[in-house]
Amino acid sequence: MIFTIYEIFNSNAALALNMRLEEAKLRAAEKALKMVKDGMVLGLGSGSTVAKFIKLLGEKIGYEFTEIYGVPSSYDTEILAREVGIKIVSLNDYFPDLAVDGADEVDRDFNLIKGGGGCHTREKIVDYSSGEFVVIVDYTKLVTRLGLRKPIPIEVLPFALRLVIRTLSRLGRAEIRRCKGGKLGPVVTDNGNFIVDLNYGRPIEDIEALDRELKSIPGVIETGLFYGSKVSKVVVGYPDRAEILFK
Ligand code: A5P
Repeated sequence: MIFTIYEIFNSNAALALNMRLEEAKLRAAEKALKMVKDGMVLGLGSGSTVAKFIKLLGEKIGYEFTEIYGVPSSYDTEILAREVGIKIVSLNDYFPDLAVDGADEVDRDFNLIKGGGGCHTREKIVDYSSGEFVVIVDYTKLVTRLGLRKPIPIEVLPFALRLVIRTLSRLGRAEIRRCKGGKLGPVVTDNGNFIVDLNYGRPIEDIEALDRELKSIPGVIETGLFYGSKVSKVVVGYPDRAEILFK
């Protein structure tokens, strides 16, 4: 196979950007780790940034921390958390002291779009029930207005799929999320539902009003819109440092 000089340049540039992002996520995870105290019950979000946080946490269990308990927000997180030695507990026994979770977009008021990994329903339950909710992101996730870059993920009862898509289509382009490998067909969430991505294509003016409107559609289980009022801090990672944003 012969590559052009442009293809080589582009693939090197993409590789370099990816490495910067990985570093930035790691910096955010390291900073958030400093907020953890021994014996805490942690709400564990999902995604690649949280995975770095969980791995770093695991390295300290048995040394700096004798016991850490975790309420996972997905099977993916649960498997990783068990592997690194975090004791898994149920939300029906403990509300977390601190939830640490990633995001797809964060605005100035700490409103979020989440659900790029299809885990937002359990994430919202875990994050909102925690004493403190800290968001960890790389610098590319900061936006001035939500809704322009990423679609809004919506978890939908399969029985209601057609009705939900028809109703959402009045607000933007609504499409069912499909698996990108490993399995054919639609993405099925940890709760056995489908994900519909709503490409809103304009700034979200009032996140709470939009969230209420979306949830009023029969069959909508949960949206990926998270209110800034629920977030205590945002930790933003850059390749060489991390900064904590306060309200
Ligand atoms: C999972 O459904 C999402 O809400 C993630 O928390 C979000 O997509 C951030 O993931 P990354 O840390 O992988 O960017």
